[in-house]
Amino acid sequence: MNVRTIALVTGANKGIGYEIAAGLGALGWSVGVGARDDRRREAAVEKLRATGVDAFGVALDVTDDASVTTAAQVIEEQAGRLDVLVNNAAVAGGMPQEPTSVDLATVRTVVETNVLGVIRVTNTMLPLLRRSASPRIVNMSSSVGSLTRQSGTAGEPTTGPVAVAYAPSKTFLNAVTVQYARELSGTNILINAGCPGYVATDLNGFRGVRTPEQGAAIAITLATLPDDGPTGQFFEDAGVVPW
Ligand SMILES: NC(=O)c1ccc[n+]([C@@H]2O[C@H](COP(=O)([O-])OP(=O)(O)OC[C@H]3O[C@@H](n4cnc5c(N)ncnc54)[C@H](OP(=O)(O)O)[C@@H]3O)[C@@H](O)[C@H]2O)c1
Repeated sequence: MNVRTIALVTGANKGIGYEIAAGLGALGWSVGVGARDDRRREAAVEKLRATGVDAFGVALDVTDDASVTTAAQVIEEQAGRLDVLVNNAAVAGGMPQEPTSVDLATVRTVVETNVLGVIRVTNTMLPLLRRSASPRIVNMSSSVGSLTRQSGTAGEPTTGPVAVAYAPSKTFLNAVTVQYARELSGTNILINAGCPGYVATDLNGFRGVRTPEQGAAIAITLATLPDDGPTGQFFEDAGVVPW
């Protein structure tokens, strides 16, 4: 059995996911680079290895049962267990997403990836996580999923564009995170949601103002929580994000 801490990051071939893999790798961890495209995955693994990270590729499409099952087998063979799962992969679904004119196929695709994908990956990896002394699950969410922030009810300007697929998919994911934390209370598994801030990546046409490395910081914090750390909560770098 591998003595290093073992992590899997979904959607780790680019953007924030790549930087989460780099950041966890810099801690000396062994990092599974989950990515659906062979070429992009291998390029990311090579790039990480070139910086000294103990990275290994994990073919992984979060929307595909067979792919996720095979990914768990790869980790089982590679490491025999999983210590940290970062559910980072997501899609924005394309804008505009105005509620009155949205194509239902867009909503389905976004929920399939951003919510059902997280449940699928988490449940498939859970037997491996249960073998860890300190399992951690990090769900990459967004403050646009905060009902308080998207509605502006805290007296601040509304956060994010009007988007009936992406923003609610993160609200759904936040609730999913809470439900897991409730079921898993009494175990050593901590599960939290994190918001990276507005980061320049493909997801938003590189309009974000933070770097992917800055965006990865909250995931690293939540991946390295102590055993008495929080669970079922939603954080950004500055602290708790209101639901
Ligand atoms: N950027 C921001 O400002 C921002 C703000 C708040 C929250 N977030 C969240 O942060 C996370 C990372 O976003 P990002 O900005 O880094 O986006 P990104 O650059 O577009 O990266 C998204 C990653 O998810 C992967 N992915 C998408 N669908 C997948 C699937 N079905 N199976 C496996 N992988 C899949 C992509 O792979 P491909 O290369 O194959 O497409 C890519 O690796 C997401 O959860 C996002 O919602 C981002």
